[in-house]
Amino acid sequence: MKVDVTLRLIVCLFLHQTLAESQSNSIVEDKDVLVLTKSNFHRALKQHEQLLVHFYAPLSGQSLGSILEFREAAGALKEADSDVKLGGVDVKKEKELAESLNITTLPSIRLYLSGDKNNPVYCPVLKSSASILTWLKRRAGPSADIISNVTQLENFLRRDELVVLALFKDLEEGAVKVFYETAADVADLPFGVTRHHEVFSKFEISRDSVLLIRKSKLDQQFEMESSTVKTDLVHFIRLYEMELVTEYNGVTASKILNSVILNHLLLFISKTEGGFEEIYNAYETTAERFRGKVLFVLIDVSELRNGRMMEYFHVRSEEAPQVRMVNLSNNLQYQLPSDQFDTHTLMEFCLNYLDGKVKPKMQSEPVPANWDTQPVKELVGMNFEKVAFNHNNNVIVLFYAPWNSECRALFPLWEELADHFSQTQDVVVAKIDITANDIHLHLGEKYPSIKLFPALYSERVIPYSGKRKLKPIVTFMKIEIEKAKTDKAKEEQRRKKYLEDQKAAQKEEL
Ligand SMILES: *[C@@H]1O[C@H](CO)[C@@H](O)[C@H](O)[C@H]1NC(C)=O
Ligand SMILES: *[C@@H]1O[C@H](CO)[C@@H](O)[C@H](O)[C@H]1NC(C)=O
Ligand SMILES: *[C@@H]1O[C@H](CO)[C@@H](O)[C@H](O)[C@H]1NC(C)=O
Repeated sequence: MKVDVTLRLIVCLFLHQTLAESQSNSIVEDKDVLVLTKSNFHRALKQHEQLLVHFYAPLSGQSLGSILEFREAAGALKEADSDVKLGGVDVKKEKELAESLNITTLPSIRLYLSGDKNNPVYCPVLKSSASILTWLKRRAGPSADIISNVTQLENFLRRDELVVLALFKDLEEGAVKVFYETAADVADLPFGVTRHHEVFSKFEISRDSVLLIRKSKLDQQFEMESSTVKTDLVHFIRLYEMELVTEYNGVTASKILNSVILNHLLLFISKTEGGFEEIYNAYETTAERFRGKVLFVLIDVSELRNGRMMEYFHVRSEEAPQVRMVNLSNNLQYQLPSDQFDTHTLMEFCLNYLDGKVKPKMQSEPVPANWDTQPVKELVGMNFEKVAFNHNNNVIVLFYAPWNSECRALFPLWEELADHFSQTQDVVVAKIDITANDIHLHLGEKYPSIKLFPALYSERVIPYSGKRKLKPIVTFMKIEIEKAKTDKAKEEQRRKKYLEDQKAAQKEEL
């Protein structure tokens, strides 16, 4: 009896399931997003008049953010009973499908209309669910707010810190069409358009123009020509949407990373430090000169939330101010070879960088061929640990920045020191260019910095802060080397005694 019931239940469930599947012919969804595969893609095209598809690689950081935003947008569309359906293709699993659809870059977003797989609308990769929804809305409806009086204009200008306002004499025909197309694609900014003569005179404009308005003030102006195409206008907006200097924070981070400008100059500085104003002014002046070529970013090192950013760039707050160029195409970094931050130095650095004349900063420089044949050993990232943390040697290291005159002034002293110890087998006198080599050691102060790595106690790092003269350094070394020896001896004794005590205790127990 019991067996019979169970069996019937199973059969029933089985029937129910197949029935449900064949009835709705439904495709599995993940949080309201269709999970599209080679075998169901055509079915999805047939079922949905408007299908917005996200092609992604699941493990890439870039895709991850857009997957989450895509889900959120799908939920919102479902709630609004929209005709648009969202689907996702994991390109790592669905290589063949992606290839047949000509997907070459990831992530990619395409809108398929009326079941036509050959002529999708290319959707820019939008970084938030709100901009995905805006993009869809602007594609379907008017892509910009039509502004017909001054009250409306004032409300529009308050919509966001930066808004795009177009002034056209004709809102139906001609150049305005390029503007509408642009507005549809640039879904992360508010777009308004007007032919109202009062607005023309308010901004003293006579020809068809697109204006960028920041905090209700005219910031940039672009005159439309009959030859202007969408990419020109998008470029203008992307170029000037950032301020001359953008401070890195939660709001600006994604705009910085998605900028069309791929050379970023980063100024690490504490906004509370004394010389801030002067350095900032020089930075901003330089930014004006390189607008469109280099994006100028400021990172406040006294802001705790910037800790991860600084960790990423291996910049410690004690080392600020510091200026670094990053090429986002290949992720190479270039250090400003100076501790002067005036306009001249900054401009020269940018020019030289753009000319390909600056050497990138590396984890480590290559080991110099003759690094240990000279009296002073030249260390780099790759051989630093092996030499400094050597159990058999007492190693004194000068950490220096090559452009810094205070550092360079110590080079003769280091030769003298090396000469002094030339007959001592277990002392190594070395130096390392700390700006070209990343080492895993917290220096905790500015250059130049001097540290002793005594033998026996190789994990011990002893900073030297006395007079920068031969005698006191030699004395410091002698004392610390002796101390390391006696400490080691004491430790050995303690260890021996401990072992003996253990043995004695064991005997007693027996
Ligand atoms: C992919 O590209 C090829 C060559 O350009 C073209 O013939 C084909 O129709 C395209 N397929 C789709 C689905 O767009
Ligand atoms: C401005 O235009 C809007 C929309 O057409 C209208 O609702 C509003 O009453 C107008 N305001 C003035 C002051 O004319
Ligand atoms: C940035 O990197 C790209 C890709 O490697 C390279 O083509 C370009 O020349 C670099 N830019 C500069 C200014 O070095």
